[in-house]
Amino acid sequence: MKGIILAGGHGTRLHPITLSVSKQLLPVHDKPMIYYPLSVLMLAGIREILIISAPSDLAGFRRLFGDGSALGLSIGYAEQAAPLGIAEALLIGADHIGTDSVALILGDNIFHGPDLATLLRRSVRELDGCVLFGYPVPDPERYGVAETDPDGRLVRIEEKPAEARSNRAITGLYLYDNEAVAIARRLRPSARGELEITDVNRVYLERGRARLVDLGQGYAWLDTGTHDSLTNASQYVQTIEHRQGLRIGCIEEIALRMGYIDRDACYRLGMGLAKSCYGQYVMALAAPQPLLTPVG
Ligand code: G1P
Repeated sequence: MKGIILAGGHGTRLHPITLSVSKQLLPVHDKPMIYYPLSVLMLAGIREILIISAPSDLAGFRRLFGDGSALGLSIGYAEQAAPLGIAEALLIGADHIGTDSVALILGDNIFHGPDLATLLRRSVRELDGCVLFGYPVPDPERYGVAETDPDGRLVRIEEKPAEARSNRAITGLYLYDNEAVAIARRLRPSARGELEITDVNRVYLERGRARLVDLGQGYAWLDTGTHDSLTNASQYVQTIEHRQGLRIGCIEEIALRMGYIDRDACYRLGMGLAKSCYGQYVMALAAPQPLLTPVG
């Protein structure tokens, strides 16, 4: 399975912060926002990843990750000239996807929860059509909304409905088989002028090949779209990291644990950041007996 991170958009709800910096490069506590979706793809076992962003922002992502080899990944880059919708990522990424399946994740979506890696890998393994991830929210009208029957089967998907029929938002992580590219090619722009990912999902639903995995209690799906939600996300990460002495979304740690890099490589990555607590944490991971002291 290939991975795509869509880090597009103008981040207008975060102005003036995002006038000169890509939203997905803003800090969420101790690391750039895009580390979190990248870590989700890595946990799912995906190593070939395309980052799609606005032409003016791509240089920043390149500086951050290069070709990805330091993390045992292969990271490529592509432009989304204008924010014409999430589904456009499947068209821009068509060559990258090739004949493979794909996990598409939005660059501002933060997931955290018990055994997320197992859940992700099982979902990848059992993929037959598409897998969407649902999360209960008090304001579903702001999102794609999933409705299920009493047996938990997906029966309806709506994009930002005026009145939501359920409180289950569809998060910005989508697993698709290779059909997604052909489906995206047939889409027409919506009333807001975008190629809607919800329309892709609806085609899978109509074919009876869309599955919803519920991220229920114990999971966090954090929003970073506004000043307050960005601060709240930082505070959430800070609280958990300080309490546990473990980091959320630490890509070097995941690369080490997944066997993408060895301890030496991990240590070198930490050394490069050694003046920060983050770098020291990464160096400590590389020790034979990882000494996980509380951070901060
Ligand atoms: C997009 C999708 C929506 C999804 C949301 C998740 O919304 O259109 O279905 O629930 O991402 O973050 P947008 O960011 O375009 O408002």
